[in-house]
Amino acid sequence: MTADELIVLERLEKVFRVRRRAGLVRRERSEVRAVDGISFRVRRGEMVGYIGPNGAGKSTTIKMLTGILTPSGGRLRVAGVDPARDRKALARRIGVVFGQRTTLWWDLPLGDSYQLVRRLYRVEPARFRANLERCVELLELGPLLSVPVRQLSLGQRMRGDIAAALLHDPEVLYLDEPTIGLDVISKTKVRAFLRDLNRDKGTTVLLTTHDLTDIEQLCSRVMVIDQGRLMYDGALSGLREVGESERTLVVDLAEERPAVEVPGARVVRVSGPRQWLAFPASASAAPLVARVAADYPLVDLSLREPDIEEVISRMYAAGWDGAAGAGGGSAGG
Ligand SMILES: Nc1ncnc2c1ncn2[C@@H]1O[C@H](COP(=O)(O)OP(=O)(O)OP(=O)(O)O)[C@@H](O)[C@H]1O
Ligand SMILES: [Mg+2]
Repeated sequence: MTADELIVLERLEKVFRVRRRAGLVRRERSEVRAVDGISFRVRRGEMVGYIGPNGAGKSTTIKMLTGILTPSGGRLRVAGVDPARDRKALARRIGVVFGQRTTLWWDLPLGDSYQLVRRLYRVEPARFRANLERCVELLELGPLLSVPVRQLSLGQRMRGDIAAALLHDPEVLYLDEPTIGLDVISKTKVRAFLRDLNRDKGTTVLLTTHDLTDIEQLCSRVMVIDQGRLMYDGALSGLREVGESERTLVVDLAEERPAVEVPGARVVRVSGPRQWLAFPASASAAPLVARVAADYPLVDLSLREPDIEEVISRMYAAGWDGAAGAGGGSAGG
């Protein structure tokens, strides 16, 4: 491990043993391989997206990286520390935000929560003041400091959580769905804040999200996992080449019709008066819309960009494998 490699995973595994109901009384033991031999390295100062469908193993990986869960196999180092063994030492060097639940004290005003964080991590008063000031200003927390956490809206609480994770100047910040449920304006603010944090303080960021825009705007590198395995590690552009090879125009006609016929697009689905037309992502939608409108009784339309799940399923269809994607981001198959 070189000095600037902050996170190192080697064939990391996590197997959950679960007992399932099989009939009325009988229970069956089974195994869930949530993380199934993942290897990657993250250098100091990198901002990396960690994406994949529901149940892929993203949160499980992050929990191992923070020491909450102990790996079943493989090797793991964060800032030279084995997280499961030395969770306390690591806690002072990392910050973590789980978008799905708060790490703040539910009944306390936000400002009091921060004082507890200060004591918990023994942050020097001057440093604490400077970090808090910065977060309050950039995340617009001023009016919220006196409000009990449980009264905060989701977006307010998320900003509060992000600040709490940063008061002790962590070298690494793990974000597990930090923009989930946020409106467009809040998302934009959170992204701008994270970008500045990475630029100004060099904080290394590992980010899990289902919003590809988060990745687009923040991460030069993206890792895709599915079923506990690393499918791709490289630039987002490499992923898009294959994943977004097609967009979809959804049209509502005045009545049910057989599949429409327009050059440059093919109908992939018909349901009542609604039809789905796939066309190359590189083509403009405007002429297509014009053709449909000229030839058919068009009532309404919308344009669909593929989401992460679709990008990933297309990766499979195109015959990608982890080896082909790893590092270079070139398509195989
Ligand atoms: N404590 C647990 N006990 C048993 N199985 C678990 C446990 N935690 C996670 N799993 C299983 O491990 C797999 C990976 O879960 P994980 O939460 O890591 O997925 P994820 O990629 O974060 O998904 P999502 O996008 O839905 O958050 C799932 O099949 C899940 O059911
Ligand atoms: Mg998760």
